[in-house]
Amino acid sequence: MQLPQRFGFDVDPSGNLLIGGAAAAGLAARFGTPLHVLDEARVRANCRAYVEALRRYAPGPSRALFASKALCIVATCQLAYDEGMGLDVVSIGEIYTALQARVPADALVFHGSNKTPEEIAYGLEVGVGRFVVDNEYELGLLDRFARERGRRADVLLRVTPGIEPHTHRAIQTGGVDSKFGFGLLGPDAERAVRLALDAPGLRLRGLHCHIGSQILDVEPFLLAARAVIAFAAEMRGAGFVMDELNLGGGLGIRYRPEHEPPAPAVFVHDLMETVRDSLARHRLPTPTVYLEPGRSIVGDAGVTLYTVGAIKAIPGVRTYVSVDGGMYENPRPALYDARYTAVVATRAAEPPSRRVALAGRCCESGDVLIWEADLPEVREGDLVAVFSTGAYTYSMASNYNRYPRPAVVCARDGSAQIVVERETTADLVRHDRPLVPSPAARAR
Ligand code: LLP
Repeated sequence: MQLPQRFGFDVDPSGNLLIGGAAAAGLAARFGTPLHVLDEARVRANCRAYVEALRRYAPGPSRALFASKALCIVATCQLAYDEGMGLDVVSIGEIYTALQARVPADALVFHGSNKTPEEIAYGLEVGVGRFVVDNEYELGLLDRFARERGRRADVLLRVTPGIEPHTHRAIQTGGVDSKFGFGLLGPDAERAVRLALDAPGLRLRGLHCHIGSQILDVEPFLLAARAVIAFAAEMRGAGFVMDELNLGGGLGIRYRPEHEPPAPAVFVHDLMETVRDSLARHRLPTPTVYLEPGRSIVGDAGVTLYTVGAIKAIPGVRTYVSVDGGMYENPRPALYDARYTAVVATRAAEPPSRRVALAGRCCESGDVLIWEADLPEVREGDLVAVFSTGAYTYSMASNYNRYPRPAVVCARDGSAQIVVERETTADLVRHDRPLVPSPAARAR
């Protein structure tokens, strides 16, 4: 199988990579590079896979939520909601983006490990559907703010089951040593349930857990589900009824040809079987089950296009092929040692013939997008496509070195539209204000 096909993309008879039916070279010519391209049909299919699998396999009612942090732009919020998902949001900015996309506030589930008073007030004001309470500080604030407004906030408590999946440490979140949630292994979670049940401003609906991200194995999710359900059973005596169970996101995607992520339908099937068994074992009533995938909704639907510039061959050492993007628009390789796969977009069917380092243009030796990129011969001006860049690239991009963030386009049926404009140089100084000289300096 050709490499693009392994990543779910077609190649036309002349060797051009197609994204959503549109030739990569045409997109680059029209919109410039670096360019983030999203295959709309692929995003929709990923959403549908979760919505349908939950409908089929969940023991009762269910709701899939798109973890918008993976790529929080108006277009992806529109797509996810249109396909029947709610949204996981973590900030006023994400809530505002969702509302701009006309997602109703009650379809939003508000996360965050340190929600500020301003954020909590905003969440109440717009009427987010659920708050996922992470700690006692938030519990107290939310209770008070809701009471002051004559309201009761619907909450889930985020619990941390003490499970560490095999993924990069920075993206593990469910272990004991974690800033997130109420630990299940100590007294914290039990205490939080009792506090929430006693809080007149809160309506405790259930529990939430999220153990990490880019997890390629179903087992840790099953362990976490069992632990959370066992805890719900223990808390029955305190008067707790788990109406809702949110098991987070975290399913991995293919970044390298050898990655074999479980299909969402398989993942949901296996997880729901465990949920059903555990509920039955503990004789618990059936809750509404939520999942909140982010990466596996937008990740594999995204491709980044770059133009090759300087090529530096160091004989016997390595060849650096520099492109016009880098860690400012995809910080994942520098942050997490994330590994990607690239092709030359106009010769996408050509087998690789050399191993090069695909370097970014930031002023750091560590700004290398792919240390071991297997490519055919590459020349200046070639168009390079990197697969699986839909998640946590644009949403984590910065203006480091004062590079403007790239445009994002959505491709569908052979044509494409801008969904985020490319930043301009003027945008970069939009919030800068010249320093007013002191009177002494003015007198000089
Ligand atoms: N739910 C919660 C509470 C989360 O914290 C996250 C991700 C998700 C759901 C979605 O997880 P996903 O399905 O996307 O794995 N920046 C890192 C990933 C950080 C994930 C943060 N939380 C990366 O680029 O790998």
